[in-house]
Amino acid sequence: MKLIIGNWKMHPYFADEAKRIFSSVKKTASKLGNVNTVICPPFVYIHELKKISKGKVALCAQDLFHETAGPYTGEVSGEMLKDVGAEFVLAGHSERRGMGETNSDVSLKVQAAHKAGLTAVVCIGETVRDQSGSYLDHVARDLRESFSKVQKKNLKKCIVAYEPVWAIGKGDSLPPELIEEMAIFITKNLSDLYGQDEGKAVPVLYGGSVTGRNAEEIIKRGGVDGLLVGHESLNPESFMEILKAAEKA
Ligand code: PGA
Repeated sequence: MKLIIGNWKMHPYFADEAKRIFSSVKKTASKLGNVNTVICPPFVYIHELKKISKGKVALCAQDLFHETAGPYTGEVSGEMLKDVGAEFVLAGHSERRGMGETNSDVSLKVQAAHKAGLTAVVCIGETVRDQSGSYLDHVARDLRESFSKVQKKNLKKCIVAYEPVWAIGKGDSLPPELIEEMAIFITKNLSDLYGQDEGKAVPVLYGGSVTGRNAEEIIKRGGVDGLLVGHESLNPESFMEILKAAEKA
């Protein structure tokens, strides 16, 4: 079973447009037997979209705050997200990290997600790729620190999304053989932290300029369990192609 997550980021402008895109994704998703489809809309659309999802497309929030409730103006807790229908939540997306979020913040968010009964999609990835291989240290550190509060029993509520920051929104994805290398590296690191069987059981997704044209290749040859798709997930035609590619692979 492949997992395809569409991250809408701060789009679309209108609730009606969100419903229209979501309904067309649902139509394709409900015909597929080998793909779990998940959409991450802005917070304000989650509740409405949940009502029309009919269990065919799961909902994922794009972020959460680590406290349950309290004097935190502008924040949203995992419990609130769960209550309006989210099953998943992104933690540590590179665009949040770019606004100052650290691995230590991410670790609190992952812990809060689990407390609320949500599955955490932990986003990690290097900002640059250099010849010296320091990107491997970057990814290992992101993993170690972002997972620092995850107990073994909660590992089944974790997904890792590997997104090299330099490939996000740029039109160029990482070649499949390098994605495969990183997927193995991530699983090895998780196995070192939690044990081999536990580490292997954590799904690893790839994200960063996934399109209808490269999705099949990445899934077939990239050794990943699915994809985290950004801008192409807002275009129902492209996202449909990605879902179909995942179904075939
Ligand atoms: P992209 O974004 O597919 O537009 O590169 C991926 C993401 O931000 O998760």
